[in-house]
Amino acid sequence: MADNVLILAGGQGKRMKTTKPKVLLEVLGSPMLEWVIGACENAGLSQICVVKGYEAQQIDDYLCGRYETVLQAERLGTGHAVMQATDFLNKNIDGNTLVLCGDAPFIDKDTIEGALKLHKQDNCAVTVVTSVIGNPTGYGRIIRTENGISGIVEHKDCTPEQLKINEINSGCYWFETKALLSVLSELTPNNAQGEYYLTDCIELLLKKGRKAQAYSSENPDVSLGANDRAGLLKLNDIARMKIINRHLDNGVEFTCLDGVIIGKDVTIGGGTHIKSGSQLFGKTSVGEGSVIGPNTILTDTVVGDNVILNNVQANKAVVEDKATIGPWVQLRPDSVVKKSAHIGDFVEIKNATIGERTAVAHLTYVGDSDVGANVNFGCGCVTVNYDGENKFRTVIGDNAFIGCNTNLVAPVKVGKGAYTAAGSTITGDVPDGALAIERGATVIKEGYADTKLQKRNEKFAKLALEDK
Ligand code: UD1
Ligand code: CA
Repeated sequence: MADNVLILAGGQGKRMKTTKPKVLLEVLGSPMLEWVIGACENAGLSQICVVKGYEAQQIDDYLCGRYETVLQAERLGTGHAVMQATDFLNKNIDGNTLVLCGDAPFIDKDTIEGALKLHKQDNCAVTVVTSVIGNPTGYGRIIRTENGISGIVEHKDCTPEQLKINEINSGCYWFETKALLSVLSELTPNNAQGEYYLTDCIELLLKKGRKAQAYSSENPDVSLGANDRAGLLKLNDIARMKIINRHLDNGVEFTCLDGVIIGKDVTIGGGTHIKSGSQLFGKTSVGEGSVIGPNTILTDTVVGDNVILNNVQANKAVVEDKATIGPWVQLRPDSVVKKSAHIGDFVEIKNATIGERTAVAHLTYVGDSDVGANVNFGCGCVTVNYDGENKFRTVIGDNAFIGCNTNLVAPVKVGKGAYTAAGSTITGDVPDGALAIERGATVIKEGYADTKLQKRNEKFAKLALEDK
């Protein structure tokens, strides 16, 4: 008897002035829809269906088949949106269905579970998640009775007395699936907005002798959404501080929050210091005792303990314990920097493993490479991985020494403990322990500069006179 989730996501959000569906607008780098899905997943709910409408294809593209969707071709109200999902609901008719708004990102596991508990305990046909707020303008008002509720009245349909009620409908409900299906077809658009209101199901169910409850959430932000860009910025501000406060509680150090953004699914160990200008997104995780920043952007990156990342940008990379990286380093997807390795200024790593204690200290590109332990790269080295059509790998053994300004033309192997001479363009494999030199021998032309130098000296003498 699995429970269903129906996320209403058909809306446009006109005042956002975008061609995206409103639910795909982002809070801290994740679409609002993703926040809602995440809360359901946290509550152990995985039978999810999303009702799409405006720019529906974008919802499908975003979900990538992760969850079911149904199309609401015309936006005729929240009740109409649910009607489009009748087939989905019928598949699991014996359980309950959680209905949520895809544009209220702060719904949480505790609220979802608390409401379901009350819903089951009181044997309700519907349980509405409510919130008591300072300014209830625009929200549906909850009409309480002695032991439940008698309905929800939309703001535009309220009497002056009802407008004073500040317990509002968050837009999140638990329905007994069978009961919901039994009244959906009875909804009519006879109201101020000419819409099919999902909230009208409550009165219809009460008329059938069923019970309706209101679950007042402890989460003060549960009903928050945004109607315009300023509102969306406010959601970002709220989410940002919520998350930073959680990390503070876990022992993460912040000295200045300027420019610090941490996504909802990021984990950070105690004693790690996040410096200003740092943004951590996606499934990024950072261990304990590390220093991240200033100005470090990590996306889906795994960072170990006691790591230093100073002015680093990393995407889908792994950085093991005690590595020190930066300043001004880019780690592109599938880079692995092993324990205690050092990457210095102006280095780019892509799809490459950098072995333990290996140093890539300055001005170097390492792409499509497997680099062993204790390797030293001189300044200005390049793995030449691309011939314009295909990519090739470079393999460098432990303890190798890559001289300054070496080009390693892949596919190529540098053996264990082997050396490449500075300025070499290495096109063939270098055996273990050997030195490879691929550059012209030095040719000396004695006295070459004499006549040239005389002319230049005259020129500079003249310029010096003019400067006086
Ligand atoms: C609805 C509730 C109101 C509640 C408020 C909370 C109704 C009648 N009213 O208000 O009591 O306080 O939510 O935010 O349900 N949607 C569709 N298709 C539609 C209409 C809406 O998919 O035809 C989706 C929207 O994308 C949004 C959600 O449903 O995610 C809520 O729609 P919205 O118009 O914001 O809700 P209201 O009608 O203002
Ligand atoms: Ca509406």
